[in-house]
Amino acid sequence: MSRAQGPRVLRSGALGRFVASWSRLAAAGVAVVGIAYALSWPVGGGASAAPAGQPARWTWELTAGFPPPRVPADNPMSRRKVALGRFLFYEKRLSANRAQSCGSCHVQSLAFTDGRAQAIGSTGQVHPRSSQSLANVGYHATLTWANPTLVSLERQMETVIFGDRPVEFGVTDRTKRAVLARIARDPRYRRMFAAAFPAAKPRVSWVNVIKAIASFERTLISGNSTYDRYLRGRAELDASETRGKDLFFGERAECSHCHTSFNFNDQAVYAGSRPAPRLFHNTGLYNIGGTGAFPVPNRGLFEFTSRPADMGRFRAPSLRNVGVTAPYMHDGSIATLEEVVAFYAAGGRNITEGPNAGDGRLSPFRSSLISAISLTPQDQADIVAFLRTLTDRRFLTDARLSDPFARRTGG
Ligand code: HEC
Ligand code: HEC
Repeated sequence: MSRAQGPRVLRSGALGRFVASWSRLAAAGVAVVGIAYALSWPVGGGASAAPAGQPARWTWELTAGFPPPRVPADNPMSRRKVALGRFLFYEKRLSANRAQSCGSCHVQSLAFTDGRAQAIGSTGQVHPRSSQSLANVGYHATLTWANPTLVSLERQMETVIFGDRPVEFGVTDRTKRAVLARIARDPRYRRMFAAAFPAAKPRVSWVNVIKAIASFERTLISGNSTYDRYLRGRAELDASETRGKDLFFGERAECSHCHTSFNFNDQAVYAGSRPAPRLFHNTGLYNIGGTGAFPVPNRGLFEFTSRPADMGRFRAPSLRNVGVTAPYMHDGSIATLEEVVAFYAAGGRNITEGPNAGDGRLSPFRSSLISAISLTPQDQADIVAFLRTLTDRRFLTDARLSDPFARRTGG
């Protein structure tokens, strides 16, 4: 794959051209494309300079149609950093009470979600929102369900570790030195930090913990679903899946307006891409009392802008691996894929009783694309069948992404 081709096609926004180009790559028999990505960024202060003997290049293993992810200039990829990041991602000693790691809420077999409607932090506090899949997370223009200001994995992690609304890791100004000391005392981590950050002083620091985990997260790339293999001529879709695919990309279902791009969303960025427009949508999930309101504190983009038109607007999630990421939506309020597609077919959700009562189909803020959706029960079943072809078994079981601590005690 030429680097120029992917980005140009992806940027065009014309889905037909994108799919055509993707299929062309498939036809050319391109299965896995390794792109050697030279680390040519200026390295400030020598903090991350690779010493002699350490490869200065990082090679992305990418599927056809996947451009290389964006990498910040001050956190270049390296094998040793990724290896360290994997351990830290699964390290429970990083939470103040040693109860949780990132992997507690982001479980590999569930495409790095947790199976809950709402996540629960290390001290038991309930998160207002559902934990998100980390598949292809390095390609998101903005992070979390609806935060236009959060644009790097490094920054997102500060909320997890040091945030208190809600408490996730529960590390505070008072405890952050002691928590870090647990890591710095461990001889294995001392070795791994020395290898990953040879010139840094001190080597074991929160900045470097965050950099290593972010580097690991950028390797969470999922592009080998049944659908991807179908595009490469390596798998077949059955009749229902094929109808579902055609509906998904067609005008009657409207799905691909928002769940477009190689990552099935509308906010994909990658190395060398232009900044993606930061799009957020109201799908008609709530309309409390007919005012269009969503429940506090889950009012989407409105929480940041206070603009009425931003009420209930959320980022369209990637649909990759959506067959294993139930329950759905920002608050886990839809249990199954069948119900999600029925919700779209209805043009929104009518809640008839309780504090959130109101007919989402009549919301003044609902996206006009949602009202245009028209699907028979058979159409809905076919779309669900297609969505299930987006599951990537290799990603869900890849040993390189797995919990290194589980393996030690396993068996
Ligand atoms: C208590 C459970 C929990 C823990 C622990 C946790 N997360 Fe999350 N994660 C969530 C939830 C919930 C969201 C959605 C947050 C929101 O919308 O405010 C999320 C969102 C994310 C996102 C944004 C994904 C996207 O699609 O934009 C990233 C990245 C992420 N988490 C990484 C991490 C990392 C790295 C760690 C460990 C340092 C971690 N998480 C620990 C629950 C958790
Ligand atoms: C107007 C843009 C838009 C259209 C059109 C659209 N979606 Fe969505 N989709 C979204 C947004 C935004 C969310 C998240 C909403 C939330 O959490 O409140 C979402 C969520 C989902 C989810 C849940 C994913 C998860 O991880 O929780 C699925 C599944 C889904 N959409 C499938 C579809 C299908 C199938 C279609 C076509 C029938 C479709 N969408 C049409 C914007 C859209």
